[in-house]
Amino acid sequence: MPSTGTPGLIAWAARYLEENGVVRPRLNAEQLLSHCTGRSRVELYAYHDRPVSMRERGEFAELLRRRAAREPLQYITGRKGFRYLELAVDRRVLIPRPETETLVERAVSALGAFPGHPLAVDVGTGSGCIALSLARECPAAVVCATEISAEALEVARMNARLLGLDDAVEFRRGDLLDALPDELKGRIDVIVSNPPYVREGDFPSLPPEVREHEPRISLVAGPSGTETHHRLMGQAPLWLAPGGLLLMEGGEEQVEGLAREAAGFGFTVAEVHADLNGRPRIVEMRRG
Ligand SMILES: C[S@@+](CC[C@H](N)C(=O)[O-])C[C@H]1O[C@@H](n2cnc3c(N)ncnc32)[C@H](O)[C@@H]1O
Repeated sequence: MPSTGTPGLIAWAARYLEENGVVRPRLNAEQLLSHCTGRSRVELYAYHDRPVSMRERGEFAELLRRRAAREPLQYITGRKGFRYLELAVDRRVLIPRPETETLVERAVSALGAFPGHPLAVDVGTGSGCIALSLARECPAAVVCATEISAEALEVARMNARLLGLDDAVEFRRGDLLDALPDELKGRIDVIVSNPPYVREGDFPSLPPEVREHEPRISLVAGPSGTETHHRLMGQAPLWLAPGGLLLMEGGEEQVEGLAREAAGFGFTVAEVHADLNGRPRIVEMRRG
């Protein structure tokens, strides 16, 4: 490791990460050095002569080693920003993705159209990113979240506590909507879900960060990739209030097909929304 200032340290670390196949190596090196030194990215460059202590260098070397072994940056730093929230993440949960922010945006706008205190349910909550965002951004809504993984639910509950939202979301463990009490049948206004949607056959070609570190249960749906969407489409009409919405994220090659199938599951209207890159990633269906 060079004994030069922080820009030299970053350049050296970025080369090492690049040699190990890490995408955006400089950004990764900057974020890891920020994490070890407690300095912002701007400070790393603005005060480039400020010494980095032996302890910080030791920690930086260890984090670089983990990142070079393709552990995701967010598991190493333990943090992920999502819309207005800073979430704790670790290998018990999927790292929230930017396209899911578009799903939340659509859900927030849909909830705004319901009067009073609309009931929203996030299915497969993982880190809690969707449910906690809805609770923060739609304070009038009543928010529940379900999750099959007990470990993931621990993380979601921890995030709720850390964000002061523990009274704002009711978390329940179980399979999709079956985790909810029967009295909610026919009463939910908006069901939101980012279900697992990777095809089994595609799993081996995922990047090592995803394949070797993120929970498989959060990724793989089955041979076709749309198994969980279909199960949820089968359950949702029973739980939605008349006029209620089901909003799901999916792969860009999946959502148009799901929209076409909506009528067969008892939904009246179905439309597809694009993510920030203009790719179709969200399907919205309304119960008649
Ligand atoms: C793609 S991840 C999404 C996590 C989080 N909502 C997000 O957007 O980052 C899917 C989540 O659904 C959960 N899950 C998978 N099968 C489920 C099921 N049958 N019932 C409830 N949750 C399930 C997984 O454990 C995982 O947390």
